[in-house]
Amino acid sequence: MLLSPRAERNWEDLCSVLEEVLEDQSPRQLFALELGSGTGQHVIRFAQKMPFVTWQPSDIKEESRESIMEYIAATHVKNVLQPVHLDASAGWEEWAALSRNSCDIIIAINLLQYSSFKTAQGVFNGSGQLLEQNGLLITYAVYAINGTITPSCNEHLDAELRQMNPEWGLPDVDVLRQLAYGNGLRMERMIEMEEYYKCLIFRKL
Ligand SMILES: C[S@@+](CC[C@H](N)C(=O)[O-])C[C@H]1O[C@@H](n2cnc3c(N)ncnc32)[C@H](O)[C@@H]1O
Repeated sequence: MLLSPRAERNWEDLCSVLEEVLEDQSPRQLFALELGSGTGQHVIRFAQKMPFVTWQPSDIKEESRESIMEYIAATHVKNVLQPVHLDASAGWEEWAALSRNSCDIIIAINLLQYSSFKTAQGVFNGSGQLLEQNGLLITYAVYAINGTITPSCNEHLDAELRQMNPEWGLPDVDVLRQLAYGNGLRMERMIEMEEYYKCLIFRKL
């Protein structure tokens, strides 16, 4: 089982955001797709806290999918489906046979800064197709805003990411807002989180 110390630190705050934005939705049974699930720590905690949501974890990496399976087995959670291979940079038709308008929530935690712009394009295009009307896309990351990165620790983070992979780096909120617009979504809220992280909440119109 993989363990991310950062996921151990931030899952509770992320849960609070999810519970708040979904407040008016429960007790309706919802379906959520997580992109780039990583270790599986988030999806397990979300499922335990929000039993009215069925969670579909996914990741491009086999190692991550194996870890998620191990967490599911160890915790016996009933509302997490087995993880699927999903490359968010691919066309939505290749997203694990999910059908149009089938998701109430799509969430991507720390995916956009660790992947190429093609992945961001895929995330918004896929969300535009897979979310049902009023469905939510939630992204969690450290962001640039209108081309500017502040404070200097975030500039260092951006430089570090680009050194690891020239295609990575802090995504720009305004670029994401435009991607959303082009795919039938609107940015509704920007929620400040710890250590300059933010949650962006997009709604499908
Ligand atoms: C920094 S990790 C974040 C993992 C987890 N969401 C978390 O916050 O602990 C980024 C994850 O995104 C996955 N990933 C990268 N590119 C991807 C893509 N194009 N499609 C789907 N997953 C991707 C990686 O395999 C990795 O598990």
